[in-house]
Amino acid sequence: MKTKLFQRDQIKEAASLLRAGKNVIFPTETVYGLGGRYDDELALDGIFKAKNRPGNNPLILHIHDRSQLKDIVEDVPEAAEALMDAFWPGPLTLIFTKKDTVSEKISAGLPSVAVRMPSHPVALALLKEVGVPVAAPSANPSGYPSPTREEHVLEMMGHVDGILLGGDAEVGIESTVLDLRYDPMRILRPGIITSDDINGLDLEVFRVKDEEESASPGVLHRHYAPRAKVSVIKGSKAAIEHLIETEVDAVFLVSDEYWKPNDNRLIRFVPEASLEHAAKEYYALLRELDRQNVKTIYILALEETPSSEALMDRMMRSADGRCLQLGDSDECSHRK
Ligand code: TXA
Ligand code: MG
Repeated sequence: MKTKLFQRDQIKEAASLLRAGKNVIFPTETVYGLGGRYDDELALDGIFKAKNRPGNNPLILHIHDRSQLKDIVEDVPEAAEALMDAFWPGPLTLIFTKKDTVSEKISAGLPSVAVRMPSHPVALALLKEVGVPVAAPSANPSGYPSPTREEHVLEMMGHVDGILLGGDAEVGIESTVLDLRYDPMRILRPGIITSDDINGLDLEVFRVKDEEESASPGVLHRHYAPRAKVSVIKGSKAAIEHLIETEVDAVFLVSDEYWKPNDNRLIRFVPEASLEHAAKEYYALLRELDRQNVKTIYILALEETPSSEALMDRMMRSADGRCLQLGDSDECSHRK
């Protein structure tokens, strides 16, 4: 397949490809998305094919204006209005009861549909130009870390009809997914919009537990993992230093406490200093370590706070749930 490459001033050209039912990668503030118009079955098939994505994982619809909701959702609850006022455009995906007209390919057979309005100016302008909702998962091969840089999406050349460039993704991890149809509402995927942010609107929210996760089919699949074997680690200082000494071929993502400038196995990754910065760098770092052919990666666990939940969730998924407790540390209580 021949892929057309568009610079950020070629939004109209990219939009006309999408409008014609083709698949185009575009930037958003979270991660790059792989788009296809929502009302074109071939465009939807193309998304699953380009990513090698299982058909039971539903897609998020992207809109530029709330008036587009009327074509895709049954009703807009009052709480949704408050959430949209506060967080749209932005990294919050809302799950509504879907209209019958929304393809089964988008909803994966569920009675619901996920919708978000991205804040990236290129995404907003593109969606406006296309005029209809655009289905778009993250633009990575299924299971691999999501693309957050131009060089990551260029790896999809030959697999899609077009790629619209838009610089680095500001947020770096995927949107918060919130199911509005329950009271309290349910966070199916944590993101930089946290339960605290939602509570701030006087709305009650609940983070679903493992056994209920089938509520969001996407979280069942192995996710965000590089080729290298990743493990999250938690432990006493002595135990962690011992691991660093003995695992000579591994790379370690560590805080300042362990970092030494003359040991190139140690990568200074200090989420405590700025969780936003760490989230923005995380997937790019995993991809870079794959490029360097690193086989084993250890990542120091984060302290558990509402703001660290999303990044810790991605780390645990990259590690396929592996968290090593070293020495006499607390349990790895973070769920996969
Ligand atoms: O930040 C983002 O959300 C990015 C950008 C491109 O917008 N998109 C993204 O899409 O992360 P994707 O397909 O990689 O992840 C969508 C997640 C999956 O976990 C999926 O299972 C869940 O949203 N999802 C989609 N529709 C759903 C539905 N109707 N019910 C429950 N979960 C749903
Ligand atoms: Mg994804």
